[in-house]
Amino acid sequence: MKSLADIYSHLPDAPSEKTLERVDYEARHWSSPIKGPLKPGTEEHKKAVAQMFRDTFNPYKPSVIDWPELDPETLHRITSLPIWDIAVQTEGKARLRMAAYAAMIDDPDMKDALSRNAWEENRHKEVLSKLVEAYKIPMAPEPPYVEPKDTEWAYLVTGFSECVDSFFAFGLFALAERAGLFPMELIETFEPVMQEECRHILLFANWLAWHRASMPFWKRPWFELRVIGVWIFLAYERMGLARSIDDNGEEHTQDNNFTVTGAKDMTNIDIKVPELMQLCLDENDRRFAGYDPRLLRPTTTPAIARAIIKGAKIWGCVKSKCCPAKSAA
Ligand SMILES: [Fe+2]
Ligand SMILES: [Fe+2]
Repeated sequence: MKSLADIYSHLPDAPSEKTLERVDYEARHWSSPIKGPLKPGTEEHKKAVAQMFRDTFNPYKPSVIDWPELDPETLHRITSLPIWDIAVQTEGKARLRMAAYAAMIDDPDMKDALSRNAWEENRHKEVLSKLVEAYKIPMAPEPPYVEPKDTEWAYLVTGFSECVDSFFAFGLFALAERAGLFPMELIETFEPVMQEECRHILLFANWLAWHRASMPFWKRPWFELRVIGVWIFLAYERMGLARSIDDNGEEHTQDNNFTVTGAKDMTNIDIKVPELMQLCLDENDRRFAGYDPRLLRPTTTPAIARAIIKGAKIWGCVKSKCCPAKSAA
């Protein structure tokens, strides 16, 4: 397996292996020096969240990534994944929505953290654009990125969407690594992006708790209704495939729900849904493990995954008639 230093070794001012290892470690491990609890709504919590986001920044540069040459089979596997248009556009939209929301809030700490998050989304878009260019992946034209009319709604949609996508992407990524269908250099290149999404949803979960705790109590019911609305919108959005036509008149079908349904494209390992859910849960725990346990983690998608595992167990039990109630009947 190539090390990070090998990947950057073509650069005249390539950072040393030690530097890369330190930066990578610091992006994954962070604890607040503040003693005692970090309660959402307090200055201590808010400052810790902003500091975590600053201190764990990974300064990799998309423009220097040396994309590995791929054999025809791997190249075909990568270029035919139904995700590239939607992935590039999602990062572009995320940058715009996060920047718009950051511009709207007054608190300097949260403004700083959210602006940095917007910048990192743009860097993800750059990484993807470089990959698309390197492997000549045909793309549909990008739609214009329009400032959202309802900035808070757009930020909530992006934030919750990242919580769902990142959770499943963690599992798929681990699966792809185990299956060995993609070259290790590519896996290594996307590893910091994956960890960055973990930091993003850590920020979102703590922003959400801070926002809830610091808003006037009379605004809270309307806000909670909006949160429910966002989840309904996301469920609806993920039921469909997006279709678009490129400059050559070719139709592009993009899977809005690839992170949930993409296991078959990422691996030749036969994996059942409950096993995949367990892998996502394990990877989710592993990626969050290095961050201060007093900071909140996203909970809804892991809870859905646990419910699916439990449901599958009960269903398996009913089918094999191993339930005491069923066998007694
Ligand atoms: Fe991103
Ligand atoms: Fe993100």
